[in-house]
Amino acid sequence: MPALSTRFTERFGLDHPIALAPMDKISGGPLAAAVSEAGGLGLIGGGYADAAWITDAFAQAGNRPVGIGLITWAALRAPGAFETVLNSNPRALLVSFGDAEPLVVAAHAREIPVLWQVQTLAQAKQAMEAGAEVIVAQGQEAGGHGGARGLMSLLPAIRDMAGPDQIILGAGGIADGRGLAAVLMLGGDGIMMGTRFWACREATGPDVAKQRLTETGGDATVRSSVFDVARGLDWPRQFTGRVVRNDFLNRWHDDMAGLEAQAGAEQARYAAADDTDYTTRALIAGEALDLIHDLPSAAEIVRKTSTEAAALLNGARRYSGGTAG
Ligand SMILES: Cc1cc2nc3c(=O)[nH]c(=O)nc-3n(C[C@H](O)[C@H](O)[C@H](O)COP(=O)(O)O)c2cc1C
Repeated sequence: MPALSTRFTERFGLDHPIALAPMDKISGGPLAAAVSEAGGLGLIGGGYADAAWITDAFAQAGNRPVGIGLITWAALRAPGAFETVLNSNPRALLVSFGDAEPLVVAAHAREIPVLWQVQTLAQAKQAMEAGAEVIVAQGQEAGGHGGARGLMSLLPAIRDMAGPDQIILGAGGIADGRGLAAVLMLGGDGIMMGTRFWACREATGPDVAKQRLTETGGDATVRSSVFDVARGLDWPRQFTGRVVRNDFLNRWHDDMAGLEAQAGAEQARYAAADDTDYTTRALIAGEALDLIHDLPSAAEIVRKTSTEAAALLNGARRYSGGTAG
C-alpha cells in the first residue's frame, strides 16, 4: 500500500501521486521513463507535435509505460503527428492550451485516458464535459505557458464545481512535499511538477541551464509573450509563458508593439544566438525556483516529495526543511 494513496494513484496504478509535466523536449524519453519507474506518471513533452521527435522519445523510454503531453492548438494543426502519438500506445495523453475536445474523442476511441490541463474554472467545466479522466489545475506560478489565476483558489474552486469523484491534480509552484501536502488539503488528488524535474539529472537540456536553475529564484521570473514572438510561435495571447528574465526579455517586455514591428530581425537575432546563451535564449522555469538548489535524480525527487508530504499529513505539522536531493 503506497504511503499516499489517492484516486489518482488508484486509477493509474502509481506508487506516488506525482506526475511529470510534459515540458517541451526537456521531458524526453529518459526523464519520463525515470519518473514512471519511480512510481509516478511520466509524461513525454511532445510540445509542438513533431512526429519524428515523438517516435524517438517513445523509443528512448524503452518499454517503460509513459504518457505524452501536447500543446492543443499546435496538435490540432498537426494531425499527422497526433496520429503518431495515438499509434505509440501512450499510457495517457495530456492536452493543454485550447479546445481539446477532438483530441479527447480520438484518445478515448483508443482507450487512452486523458489529462486536461486548465487555467480557469470555465476550462475545467469544458474538460469535465468532454470526459477528461483528470483535470490538472495549473496556477500562474507555473513555469512555461499558462494563465492568470493562482493555484490556491483555483484548485478548490474546481473541486467544488466538479464534485467529489473527478480526479484533479494541482500544478504550478510545487517543488517539494509541502506543495504536495497542500494540494491534497486543497482537494487535489496529486500534483504535476515541471520546474523541479527540469533541475534533475535525467532532464534533456544543457548542464549550464540546469546549473542556472539552481542559482536563480522565483523573483527573477516573469510571465511574458516576448519569447513567443522571438521564436515565431503563434500562441493565443491569453496564454503567457513564465521564464527567467534576461537581456533579451528586458529589452522588449514593456514594448511588445516595438518587438512585433521588428519581429523578423529579432527572430533572426534570437535564432543566431548560441543554444546556451541565456542572455538571449529563453530559460523557461517557474516561481518554484526558490525551492530548488540541487540536481538530484528523478527517483530521488519523487521519493522525497512523497515522503515529506506523507510525514506532514501524518501530523508532523511543520516542514522540517531540506531539499529534494
Ligand atoms: C521548461 C518548461 C516547459 C514546459 N512545456 C510545456 C509544454 O510543452 N506543454 C505543456 O502542456 N506544459 C508545459 N509546461 C507547463 C507544465 O505543464 C506545468 O504546468 C508546469 O511546469 C507546472 O509548474 P511548475 O513548473 O512550477 O512545476 C512547461 C513548463 C516548463 C517549466
